[in-house]
Amino acid sequence: MRGIILSGGSGTRLSPLTKITSKQLLPVYNRPMIYYPLNTLIQAGIKEILIIIAPERAGDYLNLLGSGKDLGIKLSYEIQDRPEGIAQAFIIGQNFIDGEDVALILGDNIFEDNLSSEIQNFQSGAKIFAKKVKDPSRFGVVKFDHQGRAEKIIEKPSTYLSDYAVTGLYLYDSRVLEIAQKIKPSPRGELEITDINNWYLQQGELQVSPISGEWLDAGTFDSLFQAQELAKKKLINNMLI
Ligand code: DAU
Repeated sequence: MRGIILSGGSGTRLSPLTKITSKQLLPVYNRPMIYYPLNTLIQAGIKEILIIIAPERAGDYLNLLGSGKDLGIKLSYEIQDRPEGIAQAFIIGQNFIDGEDVALILGDNIFEDNLSSEIQNFQSGAKIFAKKVKDPSRFGVVKFDHQGRAEKIIEKPSTYLSDYAVTGLYLYDSRVLEIAQKIKPSPRGELEITDINNWYLQQGELQVSPISGEWLDAGTFDSLFQAQELAKKKLINNMLI
């Protein structure tokens, strides 16, 4: 399985911190933020990883991570010229994916759980991870039916749907590229990852796995602050990098 870390975007919600560097390179306790999602992939044994970055920050990433040799992995880089949606990652990364299964993780998502076996046991279709949160309207939200099966997923629902957020780790089989090429930009002008997940859901091939550990999208001042505490209290002992 190949790994992709989507680490572009402009990080305007964290301005002025993001005026001089990328959000995903900001410190989270004693490491740059991207080390945490990178660790999630490395823990699962993924050795070939593509990092998708914004053009103006490319130099910072190369200075920090380089070829990946020091970390025992092979890193590649691609530029996303404009933040036109998470699902664009598969189009940008199509040569890298090269017909393999792919694990996509967002560069600002921090997981307490070790998800190695979930990643290693992935076979086909799609698998995503859900977490009960207090503020679901900030996220993609998944509603389960009475038997605990995913029924629908809505991106940032304006009315209450459920408390379960879709986290930023997504596992797909090689069909994901074709689907990303087919979907149309949403009203906010983005190729939505939720549209990809709904495609697999409609085929009956989407697995949604609830996670038990803490999970944070460190993209706001408050969640960045929480991420520091999570890293200090629970993550530092489990980092391979
Ligand atoms: O964090 C999980 C959530 O991530 C999911 O629940 C949502 O379904 C999903 O759409 C996404 O929501 P966000 O509002 O957090 O997306 P955001 O635009 O903040 O982008 C997430 C990360 O991906 C962020 O670190 C920037 C990066 N990104 C985003 C877009 C749209 C890119 O690098 N390029 C892009 O085009």
